[in-house]
Amino acid sequence: MVALDVDSSDAALQMRDRLGDSVGWLKVGLRLFVAEGPALVRDLNQSHRVFLDLKFHDIPNTVAQAVESAGGLGVNMINVHAGGGSEMLNAAAQAAVAFPDMRLIAVTVLTSDAMPKEQARVVALERAKMAQDAGLDGVVCSVFEAAAIKTACGSDFITVTPGIRWGGQDVQDQKRVADPASAIAGGSDFLVVGRPILHALDPRQAALEALSLMRSA
Ligand code: C5P
Repeated sequence: MVALDVDSSDAALQMRDRLGDSVGWLKVGLRLFVAEGPALVRDLNQSHRVFLDLKFHDIPNTVAQAVESAGGLGVNMINVHAGGGSEMLNAAAQAAVAFPDMRLIAVTVLTSDAMPKEQARVVALERAKMAQDAGLDGVVCSVFEAAAIKTACGSDFITVTPGIRWGGQDVQDQKRVADPASAIAGGSDFLVVGRPILHALDPRQAALEALSLMRSA
């Protein structure tokens, strides 16, 4: 999944075209959604599957309504923040039932969180179990938590891992980073990659490089 963390529809569509079919999924996050909104999401959804990464975290009723609105956009994956608690997760899961083609996942602990790795694993695992109990399809976690989550929640429970870097790339604000091969070996189902592809001289080539490392695992 390429994180389209750019500031305009033009930049997003240009990146989409440069990437072409090298990737199957595009991720629309806060920056792009706040700037360009639903029209762009629908456009991107014509050529790729879309993960709308808005990390809803509010009272249960508000989150359930936001999930319904996201479902109406036709996106293939959305997320809420597990920190919102089990009542919020339950409300989100109930709202998502009406959209069987949309996966609903929960953010456990941000990959930029400075929490020690061991502690992050405990908290992420606890939140993953809570998300599963509420009926969600999976979680966003770091590569360091993916294997434990798969063991506890089963192989069908989706793990989406940002914080992917390889070949000596700058980690920037991320803390718990891993390379594409370790991510696959560690039990990640979907890798989220932003800046290493967006800022590459040849984004398509960078995407293909990540895919080749994934295949090597
Ligand atoms: O540029 P970079 O590869 O670090 O981008 C990672 C992307 O994944 C960003 O869009 C960020 O918002 C998102 N993300 C994250 N950690 C999470 C959830 C989402 O980095 N736990």
